[in-house]
Amino acid sequence: MKHFSKTLLTWYGHYKRELPWRGETDPYKIWISEIILQQTRIAQGWNYYLRFIERFPTVTDLAASSEDEVLKYWQGLGYYSRARNLHTGAKYIMNEHKGIFPTAYKDILKIKGVGEYTASAIASIAFNLPYAAIDGNAFRVLTRMFGIDTPIDTTAAKKEITVLASQLMDTKHAGLFNQALMDFGSLQCLPAHPDCDKCCFVFDCVAKQRCLQNLLPVKSQKQKVRTRYFYYFRIYRQTEILIRKREEKDIWKGLYEFPLFEREKELSEEEILSNSFLTGILDGCTWTIKSISSQYKHQLTHQLIIARFITLTITKGKPHLYNSILSIPEANMDNYPVARLIERFFSYEL
Ligand code: ADE
Repeated sequence: MKHFSKTLLTWYGHYKRELPWRGETDPYKIWISEIILQQTRIAQGWNYYLRFIERFPTVTDLAASSEDEVLKYWQGLGYYSRARNLHTGAKYIMNEHKGIFPTAYKDILKIKGVGEYTASAIASIAFNLPYAAIDGNAFRVLTRMFGIDTPIDTTAAKKEITVLASQLMDTKHAGLFNQALMDFGSLQCLPAHPDCDKCCFVFDCVAKQRCLQNLLPVKSQKQKVRTRYFYYFRIYRQTEILIRKREEKDIWKGLYEFPLFEREKELSEEEILSNSFLTGILDGCTWTIKSISSQYKHQLTHQLIIARFITLTITKGKPHLYNSILSIPEANMDNYPVARLIERFFSYEL
């Protein structure tokens, strides 16, 4: 076996993490675990994976469920398009593959939300097909080991590293090789302060020889963070509350929220209460303001959401339910999937 693969797999034999999906060969479960682990730390994803697999143990179970329920099981994980794509993907597998998970790389790639990384991870871990799965960890390990300074979010770098990993891979153990590379990046070749003196590649690594550990991988410029101001109106009438489903092509699609007034700048309390969106809902009603919260800051990858929650009670009249606003029994609120921001507001209130 080639030196790199052999050293890596020996390291993996000693230090691999025990994870709930380790040793799993069911492509459906590997698919779920890989989608959960995109943008999510393992410690956070662990319980979500177990709960998800318990409720939806097969592709048939997932396809037969409602999108609301799938999102409810995803609530708190963020990047909700991942959950919607899993649901769409499960229905696609039922319709196009008679419920049997496809076994060819090119067919796996056709599942909604499955890109080259995920298709390679599933193909290699479930079917031992020789596809290199290059995540951020694998990128870091290989750019350091071979002193590659191509900026990591370019297609050129992606190609270069994928070709390199395919050459390094021991194709008899494709799934193990990919997982070993990821674990090695998470445990040994850390982004900051890697302990290179204790590394099994101490004499091989170009970054170590040239003291480039902190300079590799090369990151391209950071995307600017956009700030959005969300004013949520929590409107009660008798035992009911108003909510709406987010249907736009935007963050949190498919999740529920209170009627929302959004601006790109901060508003005064007077501006918040006099906007025509709110007065349109409340037109002809008598209402009282119960509270106006302070700001809740919610950081997403490229957006900062600054939210305030305004609680109102309608004492007379009926609200105008436009913009797909619904009136639901307040006691049922828990059944609706909501973003972490709204969960935070609820828990703060308790
Ligand atoms: N990160 C994402 N998928 C992984 C896997 N299969 N093993 C280790 N780390 C991972």
